[in-house]
Amino acid sequence: MTTLTTTPTTSHDPALLTAPHWGDPVASLNGVTKVYYKPDGSILVEALRGVDLEIPQGQYVAIMGASGSGKSTLMNLLGCLDRPTAGEYALQGQPVAKLHDEALSHMRGRKIGFIFQAFNLISQLNIEENVETPLLYQGVGREARRKRAIEALQLVGLGDRLGHRPNQLSGGQQQRAAIARALAADPVILMADEPTGNLDTATGDAILKLFDDLHDEGMTIIMVTHDDEVAERCERVIRMRDGLIETDVIHRHRTPDDDRLAAS
Ligand SMILES: Nc1ncnc2c1ncn2[C@@H]1O[C@H](COP(=O)(O)OP(=O)(O)O)[C@@H](O)[C@H]1O
Ligand SMILES: [Mg+2]
Repeated sequence: MTTLTTTPTTSHDPALLTAPHWGDPVASLNGVTKVYYKPDGSILVEALRGVDLEIPQGQYVAIMGASGSGKSTLMNLLGCLDRPTAGEYALQGQPVAKLHDEALSHMRGRKIGFIFQAFNLISQLNIEENVETPLLYQGVGREARRKRAIEALQLVGLGDRLGHRPNQLSGGQQQRAAIARALAADPVILMADEPTGNLDTATGDAILKLFDDLHDEGMTIIMVTHDDEVAERCERVIRMRDGLIETDVIHRHRTPDDDRLAAS
């Protein structure tokens, strides 16, 4: 394993950092490490080796890097699925790093929407029930659950498929349902791990267009991708290497105007 001793390469044009559509930091990591241990207590691997990262409200971020570089570990920490070994994590200003399991999972349910490569829908439930499920765990009442699920499914273009089981839908439709499930809880951050990895190009493009639209509405999105073309659509590309941020580049601000210009 090579050791990076340099600070990450950043190219933040100061003018870009004050762009109007980014707000206060939603996620701030400070000196975050994650160590996986062997059963005997010795160190197996240092998956993250001191990560500092600030993500403002409304930013659309791609995380890239070779297999084993720490992307999933970073996503798991940002998504409150796991805790750092050391360092601080503030989510909307609230400290997360030392929360106990129940408080951590409460935070996750309230603030994070997850989208996975394999959709992860429950095959025995129809898609409306799938979208309602996380709301059930949050104690949202029956009528409100149904209303929010239907709204989220309408938003992703599945308003006419509520009673369908996942296996009655195409891959693209299943991923839309998974996005609706992530959105129904009104998350602060939408986190996606290779969301188009199981889709053909045209279907994947339609899903990415949906992400663009959500971003235009102000959603903060963090997406792991191996695809340079997918990363191109994001505003910021973070490359991980050996448990550290190797490069962190803000390359542009995509705004609704970009689409209008592109279309004209
Ligand atoms: N639960 C775990 N237990 C032990 N080692 C792990 C665990 N999860 C990840 N690792 C190790 O941590 C390093 C980073 O893994 P990961 O974050 O999954 O990388 P990526 O998502 O970039 O492929 C790898 O060396 C991996 O083998
Ligand atoms: Mg991974």
